[in-house]
Amino acid sequence: MRFVDIIEKKKENHPLSKGEIHEFITSYVQDKIPDYQVSALLMAICFNGMNEQETAWLTEEMLYSGEVMDLSDIAGIKCDKHSTGGVGDKTSLALAPMVAACGVKIAKMSGRGLGHTGGTLDKVESIKGFQINMDMESFKHQIDSIGLAIVGQSGNLVPADKKLYALRDVTATVNSIPLIASSIMSKKLACGADTILLDVKFGEGAFMQTKEDAEKLAKTMISIGKHFHKDVRAMISNMNEPLGNAIGNALEVKEAIATLKGEGPKDFYELCLKAGSIMLMQAKKVENETEARTMLETAVHNGSALQKLIDMVEAQHGDIQMIKHPETLPQAKEVLEIKSREEGYVEAVHALSLGTLAMQLGAGRQVKEDIIDPSVGIVLQKKDGDYVKKGDILAYVHINHTLPPHWLDDFYASYHFTKTPVEKHDLIYKVIK
Ligand code: URA
Repeated sequence: MRFVDIIEKKKENHPLSKGEIHEFITSYVQDKIPDYQVSALLMAICFNGMNEQETAWLTEEMLYSGEVMDLSDIAGIKCDKHSTGGVGDKTSLALAPMVAACGVKIAKMSGRGLGHTGGTLDKVESIKGFQINMDMESFKHQIDSIGLAIVGQSGNLVPADKKLYALRDVTATVNSIPLIASSIMSKKLACGADTILLDVKFGEGAFMQTKEDAEKLAKTMISIGKHFHKDVRAMISNMNEPLGNAIGNALEVKEAIATLKGEGPKDFYELCLKAGSIMLMQAKKVENETEARTMLETAVHNGSALQKLIDMVEAQHGDIQMIKHPETLPQAKEVLEIKSREEGYVEAVHALSLGTLAMQLGAGRQVKEDIIDPSVGIVLQKKDGDYVKKGDILAYVHINHTLPPHWLDDFYASYHFTKTPVEKHDLIYKVIK
């Protein structure tokens, strides 16, 4: 089979066979086909898409291009969650301990942030000493003994995705639902959990701009889950404004700790309760959402959820004093107040722009090699729907250097006001399975 014939077939909008997809992935991983031919195929997939069956086969080929973790010797149902990413998204840091405190085992492999979106690994690394690398046996042992672990992705998982993603990134072929779905799901399936909850974000701070596209992506990933007989469910959630108030690594850890004490922002806590309820139902711990919410709220109010975070940090060699006394987490030299120049109801707080502004302070990376400053970032005081008077504090900015030129103007431009009351948007649009 000549690879050019596979490209031609997809260019003519015909479905590829299992054998052709196998040829594509195995040959590419073995360096038997050049990047320019694979780029042409990826572009044809971007234009013509893939049907459900092709997408499942592609995921399967990618999944088995490397090591697949086997968690079957850990007793009970092992659960995982994945967010398609956004601004201020520190969900795993609060949600995983909440769910683990209810007796569900959480096996979580996380990633780093790039551009305006943050990554869980960068956030946990603001805790002094926290180790994100662990061998397989220690990972399993920790899940078995304390019920949760958050680690970086092992080197041998889904090598096909590493190669393909790097190529997609430079050939304008990231934005294709079958390519995104197979990329995410191959990595999730390789981690070996029994159930997966996906938080698929839509909005300007997210990969998918519209609810409709987010739902399409979610349905594609759920259908891949069915192919592998896994319980995969998805929440479709709004990322037009940042999640919670804090944007920046140590600041987000602090907000997660506050949330585990029942003192976090309402929107973020609500997302954790909703996600946690679905996970408890997937783990068959509860019959329904009401029971799940009570269990999760109890874990927060009796301190067991926070204790789970402490247990995990201790097991991964982090400084637990930083969790017990969050004021000892990395602190920036200066905290500036930003006061409103306008009066009115907040109509929009643009996530993309605020994520980019936090990145410019050093909270994120513009390129992979950039080094993150864990202490800097933004803590919002006003969000969508709030009434603001001139001079009210809109946000606190935590900095170690003077603000970049135009930073303040860009910050002000991230807020939109209106004279008439604004209804707060729903954070969670839909749950599908
Ligand atoms: N995240 C991934 O892991 N893969 C994609 O293709 C897009 C987002």
